[in-house]
Amino acid sequence: MNSDSRESSAAVGDILGFLSQRRSQPLLSSPAPDKAEIETIVESALHVPDHKRLSPWRVIAVEEGQRDKLAGLWNQFAVMENKDENKLKKKAARAPLILICIASIVDHPKVPESEQVITAGIAAYTMLMAANGLGYQGYWRTGTLAYDRNVYSALGLTESESIVGYLYLGSGVANTRSRPEGKTLQDKLSYFV
Ligand SMILES: Cc1cc2nc3c(=O)[nH]c(=O)nc-3n(C[C@H](O)[C@H](O)[C@H](O)COP(=O)(O)O)c2cc1C
Repeated sequence: MNSDSRESSAAVGDILGFLSQRRSQPLLSSPAPDKAEIETIVESALHVPDHKRLSPWRVIAVEEGQRDKLAGLWNQFAVMENKDENKLKKKAARAPLILICIASIVDHPKVPESEQVITAGIAAYTMLMAANGLGYQGYWRTGTLAYDRNVYSALGLTESESIVGYLYLGSGVANTRSRPEGKTLQDKLSYFV
């Protein structure tokens, strides 16, 4: 093994460790990524696998000072039972930065919508990991506010766009809890013979 491949296998070890230890953190506070870091986070997702390079995603960043405005928009436009502006304000205040991750579907004869939503999803995951790489913590949420067409219009989404997730980002203690016992490698992997 030459020194270049030793370096690259060390990097691979880092990446595998990073992937296997990744955890979400719902308890998030300031500081949030600043504007330069937000750009780094979004740029990291420009390299995700993307059939025909349609780049079918975009992001709206909601910084700390705009969270009440987002809550107000949810309150004004969302269709939901027992709507309560204070509760919505608390939701928006879960983190000092929210990246609204959007799938922007392009009409293409060879790339179905499902593939484009996958690309938007892996862009969101990549941004979550990029934030982790910069030392921040995050939590991906959806729920009714991610599926409401009235909210989409109020946010300026087009008819061919939808929200794949609200990425809540900020600072916090790295979450080291392990996932509950669940599916194992044996459940997930088989070989074609
Ligand atoms: C598309 C998508 C939507 C999600 N929506 C929610 C949500 O609305 N609320 C929630 O608590 N967790 C949601 N999660 C799961 C959390 O982000 C997180 O992955 C989960 O709590 C497991 O924690 P871990 O990532 O640390 O293993 C969602 C995950 C994905 C991929």
